[in-house]
Amino acid sequence: MSVRRLDPVQPESFAFSRANLSWAKGQLKKYPKGKQASAIIPLLWRAQEQHDGWLPEPAIRHVADMLGMPYIRALEVATFYTMFNLSPVGEHFVQLCGTTPCMLCGSGDLIDVCKKVIGPENTVTADGKLSWMEVECLGACVNAPMAQVNKDYYEDLTAENFEQILADLRAGKKVKPGPQNSRHASEPMGGATTLLDPSLYNGKGRSKSATSRTRKAPTAKTKSPKASATAAPKLMKTPRKAGADDLKMIAGVGPKIEGILNGLGVFHFDQVSKWKRAEVAWVDEQLKFKGRIDREDWIKQAKALAKGGEAEYVKVFGKKPR
Ligand code: FES
Repeated sequence: MSVRRLDPVQPESFAFSRANLSWAKGQLKKYPKGKQASAIIPLLWRAQEQHDGWLPEPAIRHVADMLGMPYIRALEVATFYTMFNLSPVGEHFVQLCGTTPCMLCGSGDLIDVCKKVIGPENTVTADGKLSWMEVECLGACVNAPMAQVNKDYYEDLTAENFEQILADLRAGKKVKPGPQNSRHASEPMGGATTLLDPSLYNGKGRSKSATSRTRKAPTAKTKSPKASATAAPKLMKTPRKAGADDLKMIAGVGPKIEGILNGLGVFHFDQVSKWKRAEVAWVDEQLKFKGRIDREDWIKQAKALAKGGEAEYVKVFGKKPR
């Protein structure tokens, strides 16, 4: 672990607000007499929340006094756990996961966004709105890459949607946390592949059809993916007469990617919707995307958009395209 020091600029004093003091006294009652020091983590955490997301030295002393602890013991806790920020953070504090699963899924691109939009790690933007730090696994690897902003998780991120999220937060707009592609939670891309029969879990017993379905030989859909060969999809020299589709309606495609796709000869939703495995692999390779087309389910999105535009998209995904 890196050395963690107190901020050189400290406030003169700290005291819990009335409401927090009464809450803290309630915490102390949870522990047997003489064991009040056990409440140190919740109390330090509440102090940090009260003090704009970081823990100054007077707050650490204040908590130590309340718990009858030597200051050095409280300081050891505050400096050991990285959940305690020892320097000021932005109004929107970004904790970006850089651990292996997120790194393999593109967290490096997100770090570049942080550097571009916010600046160096652990600095606060001049407007006080944003700061960021790289952290270890936040336990949402199945939706990698991801970042936590204050108390919310933003998952299945791309450089494009992450940059937009930061811009929206900075502008005070409401941003929906959770997966930023077509997923609702951590189900497989394209929808659930198991527990498809409600009778398996709704208490009504396992139906015959479920039994026979689960005994079937695996289909192409359920087989584990193999490394696929690549083959260029059908490309066009120019868009059709009516003009190119707005590929940016596909979540995960920003202006830059749209430009690259157009450059390759992809202009329409129905082109994307017909890509086979080898073709997805080929486009993935061109875009250096490390599987993002599947992660963001471009094919399903493109199918909906090709079939019925925004209305069909809303029907399929329950939300408007970007
Ligand atoms: S590796 Fe990023 S959340 Fe686990």
